[in-house]
Amino acid sequence: MAHTEKVDLRGAAATLLMTLYMRRLDARSRSPILGDAYAGEVYDRIEHDVHGLWQFAGDAATIACRSAVLDGWTRDFLRTESHGQVLHLGCGLDSRPLRVAVPPTVRWLDVDQPEVIDIRRRLYSFPAHVEQVPGSVTDEGWWGAVDPGRPTLAIAEGLFMYLRPAAVHATVDRIVSGTPRAALAFDAVSPWTASVSRWTPTFRALGTGFHWSWNPADFAHRHNTLRELDDVSIIDELTIRHPRVWLRPLLSTAGHLPMLQDAMRLHRFITR
Ligand SMILES: C[S@@+](CC[C@H](N)C(=O)[O-])C[C@H]1O[C@@H](n2cnc3c(N)ncnc32)[C@H](O)[C@@H]1O
Repeated sequence: MAHTEKVDLRGAAATLLMTLYMRRLDARSRSPILGDAYAGEVYDRIEHDVHGLWQFAGDAATIACRSAVLDGWTRDFLRTESHGQVLHLGCGLDSRPLRVAVPPTVRWLDVDQPEVIDIRRRLYSFPAHVEQVPGSVTDEGWWGAVDPGRPTLAIAEGLFMYLRPAAVHATVDRIVSGTPRAALAFDAVSPWTASVSRWTPTFRALGTGFHWSWNPADFAHRHNTLRELDDVSIIDELTIRHPRVWLRPLLSTAGHLPMLQDAMRLHRFITR
């Protein structure tokens, strides 16, 4: 068996263990939605002391769905922009560049906080065109690695909600003004989801929670050079993809409640 890596993550960085754990559960289930071939092996090589991940088992299908939709949008970009650039922001220990098989003509930057990139480098071996960039997206430093001449897709999965609103808008502005034909793909939570997150025991223990939530009018007003291509409710996706087929009609009914419809949505934007 491959050797294990001890990790000591706190705050938002530790939440990467939750999503990795859920993708592992999905991959090991009888009918996976995402079927991430790397999540189980990588998770099993990590020694960590974050307790209570089992509490997120019920969300495994949701997270697998979220990753599957974002993988689909990433593949769309790779098909149309064969010399493009992908900024995989807040990448955690996600295997996305391997899942989507990034062609060598594309530049791919995995960006996350230095302690995360350090672990990522130890657990994965990526091809040379998949670069590991340590830095907070709220700082200037990582931007130096970006090629300002390539059409660019920025993917932020499970990231923006951990940032302050001003930091989300500044990150979007930097990408939109700093690259040609920018596209963005990200998930966002509703204000009530953000409020509830602050009371979740694991988040409280880790000292983190959601700070930014989706306000469509505010986003459209601040980023009026962007056009929305997709706005997908995760509950609608679950209604189509959930492996427990008998649950789908129930999800479909529940999805009519505005509260659940908006709990988490996936957005894809491009510059006009
Ligand atoms: C819920 S995890 C999601 C990780 C990964 N995208 C996934 O789906 O598994 C949140 C990630 O955002 C990263 N993150 C939080 N704040 C960040 C920041 N300011 N700059 C870069 N990454 C950040 C954390 O380190 C963590 O890896």
